Amino acid sequence: ARLAILLSGRGSNMVALVTAAQTGILRELAEVAVVFSNHPDAPGLATAAALACPTASLSSQGRQRAEFDAEVVEILRQYQPDYVVLAGYMRILSPTFVRAFAGRILNIHPADTHLHQGLHAYEWAFENQLAETKITVHLVDEGLDTGPVLAQQTVDLRGATTLAEVERRGLLAEHQLYAKALAELITKERHPA
Ligand code: GRF
Repeated sequence: ARLAILLSGRGSNMVALVTAAQTGILRELAEVAVVFSNHPDAPGLATAAALACPTASLSSQGRQRAEFDAEVVEILRQYQPDYVVLAGYMRILSPTFVRAFAGRILNIHPADTHLHQGLHAYEWAFENQLAETKITVHLVDEGLDTGPVLAQQTVDLRGATTLAEVERRGLLAEHQLYAKALAELITKERHPA
C-alpha cells in the first residue's frame, strides 16, 4: 500500500513509519509515496528527505482552509496514496479533504480519544496525574479526534514525575503502535474476512 505521511513539525512518528516500511513490520506491506508538510521548513521534512523519501510541501501560512486543502488534495493525488497518514499534522482537515480520502485517513492521538481531544494531551495526562494513558490510532472523520478507533496502547505513567518523562514514555508507545495499526489495517483490507 502507498502511504502519504503528513506532518507539521519534528516527525518522530514519520521516522518510525518510514523505518517500519523500509526494514520493519511494514516491509512488503507499505511504501512511503510521499511525506508532505504544510510548513516547508518543518524539521521532519528534511529528515524524510535524508531517509530517501519523496517530499512535498505547501505553506499554509495565511491560507483559507478549504482552498488550501483542495490544493493539498491535488498534490497528494499525484502520489496515488492508498492511505493518508497524519503524523503530527497540526491542521484540522476541511470536509473536502476528508471526503477526498474518505475512510483512508489515519491519525495518532496521544490520549484516549474518548477522554481527550485536541492539543496538549500529554500535559492533560500529566496535570491530572493519570496512572496510565492510552495512545489512540483512529480513522479521521469530519470531527476533531472523533473517528473510529483502530488501535490503542496503554502507557503506564506511574512514577513519571515530569512532563518530559510522560512524553518520552508516550512517544515510545506511539512509534510502535502506529506501524502496528497500519500493518493490521493493510493486512485486513488485503484479506477481507
Ligand atoms: C505526537 O505526539 C502525535 O501523537 C501528535 O503530535 C505529535 C507529533 O510528534 N498528533 P512527531 O512530529 O511525530 O514527533
